[in-house]
Amino acid sequence: MQEILLLSGPNLDLLGTRSPEIYGSMTLEEHVEAARSRAAAAGLSLRHLQSNFEGDLIEAVHAARETSAGIIINAGALTHSSWALGDALAIFSGPKVELHLSNPAAREPFRHVSTLARVVDGSLAGFGALGYVLAVDAVAALLAAR
Ligand code: DQA
Repeated sequence: MQEILLLSGPNLDLLGTRSPEIYGSMTLEEHVEAARSRAAAAGLSLRHLQSNFEGDLIEAVHAARETSAGIIINAGALTHSSWALGDALAIFSGPKVELHLSNPAAREPFRHVSTLARVVDGSLAGFGALGYVLAVDAVAALLAAR
């Protein structure tokens, strides 16, 4: 069975209590479970890693070259600063989807830059919890088209 790796960056471990007016009230675990169910319905497994450390996420992307068919990444604020994480994702050859609960383009100017946009197949932002399900659908469709 092909695996999707779902990566969650800094501060996403606090979803549920962190700015619920922006990010909603669901916990990260609840988002992961929704994504995992959707993946299972498409015949895919889903593994999740959350880290507050940039290097952990970079190493997870490196390791995914051996284990995972596709990557969904909500890199949190590293989206706006980490050229290194973007470079790591560029090395991964499977489908890649950038995901955000909120719509960074409609927020503070520093969130308008994405260092990942240049290396992913596409981005989903502003759909709240639905984004996790849509991201799985996107990776499943891209895998099926290969
Ligand atoms: C986020 C948007 C980022 O700008 C922010 O730093 C986050 C969450 C989102 O899911 O909307 O941590 O990635």
